[in-house]
Amino acid sequence: MTEMQSNLVKDGKDGQIKFPIFISQADMDLIEKEFVPKDGDVFVVTYPRSGTTWTEQMVHLLVNNGVQGEQRLTDAVPWLETLPHRPNGMLEFLKTMPRRRLFTSHLPYPLMPRLNNTTAKIVYVARNLKDVAISTYFHNQSKGGYEGTWEEHFQLFLTSDVGFGPYFDHILPWWQASQKDKNILFLKYEDMKHDHAGNVAKLASFLDLQADSQLIDKVVALSSFQSMTSNETTNFDWIPQKADKPKHFRKGDIGDWRNHFSAEQSRQMDTLFMEKMKSTGLQFDFGDDVIMP
Ligand code: A3P
Repeated sequence: MTEMQSNLVKDGKDGQIKFPIFISQADMDLIEKEFVPKDGDVFVVTYPRSGTTWTEQMVHLLVNNGVQGEQRLTDAVPWLETLPHRPNGMLEFLKTMPRRRLFTSHLPYPLMPRLNNTTAKIVYVARNLKDVAISTYFHNQSKGGYEGTWEEHFQLFLTSDVGFGPYFDHILPWWQASQKDKNILFLKYEDMKHDHAGNVAKLASFLDLQADSQLIDKVVALSSFQSMTSNETTNFDWIPQKADKPKHFRKGDIGDWRNHFSAEQSRQMDTLFMEKMKSTGLQFDFGDDVIMP
């Protein structure tokens, strides 16, 4: 089986989880020691391949009154875990950020810097397990150097071996935290697909922004799949990736897993999903059907 290269990082609960090879324990230690959330900060947090980039773009546009600007999205909404890699270091980079700072992160809840008494907010986005699994497979092929088969990757994903820890260990603590903390908004990729404008309005209200219908329409247009793929500040074409594999923006659909999963793989994931989601109150749209735990 082809293993992904990874770093073991403390999981904040006396254990360890796998992070991508380029994020080390030293990076995490630096963030824990020196990163201080401030009033007005917004963090877009996700399990990878759940709609991070899409949500970053919506938040960026809302905060900037619909103006895209010249910066690439990876600079306008930098990735928290990689701040220690900025050329002049994390603290110097933070000095260059605007007053309302936007960040993205894939950190599990226990590793996320605490917001303390600031007005900082977190938008957490979750996506159905099967589409995350297939999207992650293509991502690891194009950007992670993964050379195994889909079947092998499916097993890796099931055994939680693909980076940022197990899917359920990520979304469930965030879901529970969002139920208690009004500064965490829990959104779902599928809801954003079904009602893009409604979710932009929800984001605006959560971020305490006045957004009239003109601004909402503009944000919806500029954060559509088509617009983001054709815009060179949002399409992620600057990230090294294999030319013969799908790009960062692959399909953007609900239910593409059906084109790749065997019946047995689907059954295995349904069983796992039901077991893990039991009594959580969380449901996901997997395409044609909603699986009810
Ligand atoms: P697919 O691989 O299923 O196409 P992330 O940004 O968290 O890495 O998530 C990437 C996934 O979100 C990809 O899914 C990508 O196509 C999808 N995506 C990105 N922008 C989108 C948009 N504007 N609308 C819908 N889906 C989008």
